[in-house]
Amino acid sequence: MTTMQRPGTESETLRSRIAAELERTRARTALLTDAVDDDDLMRQHSPLMSPLVWDLAHVGNQEELWLVRDVGGREPVRRDIDDLYDAFKQPRRDRPSLPLLPPGEARAYVRAVRDKVYDLLDGIRFADGELVADGFAFGMIVQHEQQHDETMLATHQLRSGPPVLDAPPPPEPRVRVAGEVLVPAGPFTMGTSTDPWALDNERPAHTVELPAYVIDAAPVTNGRYREFIADGGYDEPRWWSEAGWRHRTEAGLTAPMHWRRDGDGWAYRRFGHWSAIRDDEPVVHVCWYEAEAYAAWAGRRLPTEAEWEKAARWDPATGRSRRYPWGDDEPTAEHANLGQRHLGPAPVGAYPAGASPLGVHQLIGDVWEWTSTAFRGHPGFAAFPYREYSEVFFGDDHRVLRGGSFGTDKAACRGTFRNWDYPIRRQIFSGFRCARDARPEEAYP
Ligand SMILES: [Fe+2]
Repeated sequence: MTTMQRPGTESETLRSRIAAELERTRARTALLTDAVDDDDLMRQHSPLMSPLVWDLAHVGNQEELWLVRDVGGREPVRRDIDDLYDAFKQPRRDRPSLPLLPPGEARAYVRAVRDKVYDLLDGIRFADGELVADGFAFGMIVQHEQQHDETMLATHQLRSGPPVLDAPPPPEPRVRVAGEVLVPAGPFTMGTSTDPWALDNERPAHTVELPAYVIDAAPVTNGRYREFIADGGYDEPRWWSEAGWRHRTEAGLTAPMHWRRDGDGWAYRRFGHWSAIRDDEPVVHVCWYEAEAYAAWAGRRLPTEAEWEKAARWDPATGRSRRYPWGDDEPTAEHANLGQRHLGPAPVGAYPAGASPLGVHQLIGDVWEWTSTAFRGHPGFAAFPYREYSEVFFGDDHRVLRGGSFGTDKAACRGTFRNWDYPIRRQIFSGFRCARDARPEEAYP
């Protein structure tokens, strides 16, 4: 042996990584909740969303249930509020009328929970059971809070009033990216059995055999989407599925959410600022039905979830599936537009270092991408640690979105990460790219 590994060194590395992730995540939560006054925190900005102060205390309550009580076996910080912050017992529309903890109390509560968590983290043995192996329960709580941070960012996008959030613009394009990429027929490994913080719905790894297909090298842009609108796409039932047309009609859809006509063009309201639509940015705030109609108009279709994942992870040189399009290394600012560093998607071509081996760009970050696939468990799925994380959402009601958005943190984003929502939803940071079957002469050149 040439190296001496002190026992426990690995645990110490994991312990400090968890502490750093918890801290980094809480700083984001604080930024999103400190940006507005108490009245604003208590208010419901849209029936689709919770008051921000509900998200805040709910994040603390989940942390208390899983880490303080389950993992730590400690006394509850507050045992009287579990029902108030149970997402299954309290539908979003009812949350503003609940006797919620006011902002000061909510902040004190999440702090008290966090203090206990730091305390129990000091003495934890990561070998003690499945829930804490590799720090999973802590990783789950970090990801949960980060997911609520993205939800809170979506609430900010829906709130009216003067802007309160600010961030530098995303990078400009560095390469020209256009057209589509052929993905050859063959098997690839979908999902993961080894990623320590992967959630139950990403597991297990399994082989999926796909015929050759063609996928867009970049997400569909505002410029292309404007052509669909200009061509009467919203008035032409033949581009829409029956359910899609019904929804388009009932909801009166004429353009993506937060767009309005501006002279000959369009403007877009982004966190309180109106600005002209930028044609080379991925379109965002479209629902699944709009994506489906656009794809039909363009003579294409949405990719299946497996097609999206193969384009994002499959390395033709090794046949291996990577953790991210660029490899296994954690995302940096060079790879992808993640983590609310910027308050919008980056123009196409801004992240050449983040492209997949086949040359598919901006799969991670910028906008969540709708796929045609309904949300179900991978073959061999087992709910862990509880059915309510994902299993109760399986079925035809939800479509899968992949890749994360500018509002998603890297802790809750990887090549296997799965998100899901109703096909009518568009308050999320959702866009898409198109795909099609390969023609015989493309598949067998
Ligand atoms: Fe939650």
